Amino acid sequence: MEGRIKEILQKALELIEDSENLENLEKIQQIRVQFLGKNGELTNVLRGMKDVAPELKPVIGKFVNQARDEITNRIETRIAELTAKSIEQKLNSESVDITLSSKRNPKGGLHPCSIVINEILGIFTQMGFQVKQGPEVETDFFNFQTLNIPKDHPAREMQDTFYINDELLLRTHTSPMQARTMISQQPPIRIVNPGKVYRPDDDATHSPMFQQIEGLVVDKGITLCDLKGILETFAKALFNENTKTRLRPSFFPFTEPSVEVDVTCAMCGGKGCRICKGTGWIEILGAGIVNPKVLENCGIDSNIYSGFAFGLGIERITMIKYGIPDMRILFDNDIRFLKQFN
Ligand code: PHE
Repeated sequence: MEGRIKEILQKALELIEDSENLENLEKIQQIRVQFLGKNGELTNVLRGMKDVAPELKPVIGKFVNQARDEITNRIETRIAELTAKSIEQKLNSESVDITLSSKRNPKGGLHPCSIVINEILGIFTQMGFQVKQGPEVETDFFNFQTLNIPKDHPAREMQDTFYINDELLLRTHTSPMQARTMISQQPPIRIVNPGKVYRPDDDATHSPMFQQIEGLVVDKGITLCDLKGILETFAKALFNENTKTRLRPSFFPFTEPSVEVDVTCAMCGGKGCRICKGTGWIEILGAGIVNPKVLENCGIDSNIYSGFAFGLGIERITMIKYGIPDMRILFDNDIRFLKQFN
């Protein structure tokens, strides 16, 4: 009988050892049933105990119990071993190679003109200006007539444009937004108007579509000094602290007097270089004291109020700021060019 028990134990341990992975868990449970279950091989040995001589019973009983304990222990340790093995296999197969270069998600960025627009609007809003935008398809009335450019007047030639019909056109400047504001609101007015504008020009420094920011201040006692002060502050903020400003006489139908504003070249600091064509100065915008006729056209009493206005081209400022030689590069949208700004 002792031999039989040893045989059973041996067989059980071998079967347990054979279970190679956790998927064999069921098999291990079957082994438990096969040997220790109700009709298990070892259980059956116990049943045969009634035929054993009484003096041998304690010895055989001890054997059976030892065999059962050993099988139970072995099953538990085997399950623990297989669990650990499976976790380790999983960790090895799922390991991340941190030296592998990652897939890059290309990051978008702002167009240099958008960077400049944001910067300029930032400077003016800090000085208390309000941003106002209007339609790109504008009426002849707001684009020209309110701004002292009557129908069929030669002054229109400065800004000839794309007409949709006799009354509608693509705006030539964002000044109509100034007229719209003055008609709908009494002073004090302090606004900047960004947006796209259209003119039939096309060469290295002109494009049929370009972007502008115009500004308007109307209040009591506004003079050319206020204009100079604001624009000087603006130029220093946009280029650098050492930037100087000068006004040259000019003409616009909607301002009187009118000026062109030059700044010392940001590239050479006024010494003269390729960008400023050796002069040390660069023209950045047109401006002036709002023509009293324009105020009256918009229902503002020019005996009480006065104002100044200015207008600048974004592409032009972007070219000056970054030393870009040809405006058309700004419209090509070549990624190699655009990447340099982010
Ligand atoms: N509207 C003018 C232009 O587009 C710019 C300007 C605005 C000039 C305001 C003077 C005053 O050319």
